[in-house]
Amino acid sequence: MPVKSPRPGDLEPIETASRDELQALQLERLQWSLRHAYDNVAHYRQAFDRTGVHPDDCRTLADLARFPFTLKSDLRDHYPFGMFAVPRERVARIHASSGTTGKPTVVGYTKNDIDTWASAMARSIRAAGGRPGDIVHIAYGYGLFTGGLGAHYGAEKLGCTVIPMSGGQTERQVQLIGDFRPDIIMVTPSYMLAIAEEMQRQGLDPRASSLSVGIFGAEPWTPTMREKIEAVLGLDAIDIYGLSEVIGPGVAQECIETKDGLTVWEDYFYPEVVDPETGKVLPPGEKGELVFTSLTKEAMPIIRYRTRDLTRLLPGTARTMRRIEKITGRSDDMMIIRGVNVFPTQIEELILRDPVLAPHYQVEITRPKNLDEMTILVERRPDAGSADGHAAGERLAHRVKDLIGVTAAVRVLHSGGIERSVGKARRVVDKRQLGALRS
Ligand code: DLL
Repeated sequence: MPVKSPRPGDLEPIETASRDELQALQLERLQWSLRHAYDNVAHYRQAFDRTGVHPDDCRTLADLARFPFTLKSDLRDHYPFGMFAVPRERVARIHASSGTTGKPTVVGYTKNDIDTWASAMARSIRAAGGRPGDIVHIAYGYGLFTGGLGAHYGAEKLGCTVIPMSGGQTERQVQLIGDFRPDIIMVTPSYMLAIAEEMQRQGLDPRASSLSVGIFGAEPWTPTMREKIEAVLGLDAIDIYGLSEVIGPGVAQECIETKDGLTVWEDYFYPEVVDPETGKVLPPGEKGELVFTSLTKEAMPIIRYRTRDLTRLLPGTARTMRRIEKITGRSDDMMIIRGVNVFPTQIEELILRDPVLAPHYQVEITRPKNLDEMTILVERRPDAGSADGHAAGERLAHRVKDLIGVTAAVRVLHSGGIERSVGKARRVVDKRQLGALRS
């Protein structure tokens, strides 16, 4: 498949600037951002004072390590607007991410912030192979979730024709992809699979669709899932990363010409990787928790935000800016099963390698006799019989034991047995709390 490599003129100068130029810009912006947060957000002023640091102490980029972290709980504690650094009247937009428990995390944007976000997203879409004039079908959810509107503003800024489909109405998604013939689709990888499945149900070959690029993110997905999606749909599957607290989608983006991890748009978002236990900054290449500091955001500057996403920082390849390795785990998703750490993506890898199993799965954790038990629910492919499914289930249980080191029960369901999500897939269903309540 021909890959649309960017022509030099397509890139913004900062994408190919020298490291020195980039770092000079970062330092200038970092000093502004620390000062802006300290002067205008009571939480930052108190946190900096408590730690004994002042924005003037930041003379080099390494000095950032002296500043305190910001946690999701800090945002919750100042719900809804307490982390804003501008008068409410200057806030042009609110987004929120629904937490699993309690209050949502609220974020705000000035008009300039929305423009910054649109620029970062336009850059992302271009890095994924998008060009002005392309038709972009957006199936990320619109609304308080940042996916839909973030993609929308970016695609418009790049000069694309935007189809604001949002998530859901899967039959209609398929109809409009057929009728409008988009070049690009932006959607979660799990919902992409559900759309492909619907195409097949309607007797259409997903490979024959007009789509040549998929920009997939908002949830972890493995390299094997990429191969699967590319094979089923005949498109380039490109990873996009972001989180509401930092801005939304478009914080880091994989480049189509290298597909080797995600380039962090470092002129807007400064990355660090820290040891999740000690909080110490780790040297380049070591795996730990990703931390971000916004460099230009006005409404809600964010200083050293602990993302809970696990990855490592790598040198730049397609761009001067550094990359992060594909994020396949988030500390929140880590299951500890009888002392062994397990990520859903490890299980995904094993499922996808089995020719009888379909890429739809869920992991259930229970605690029946004060011991954790893991059950993997997975579907057999529509063309496989139940005996084949049974054998595949046994194979999977063995592989999970051998390669991950935990005992899992496997239930192989018929095709369609696992609920399809229209946005982020729910991979882990933890029933341990319920069990504890009942006993
Ligand atoms: O999911 C923003 C987004 C929308 C990103 C559309 C990409 C595409 P939140 O709802 O705040 O924002 O969730 C952020 O989702 O901390 C990661 O754990 C996870 N995540 C996002 N992108 C990826 C990715 C949006 N490409 C949280 N790979 C983040 C793995 C991802 N995990």
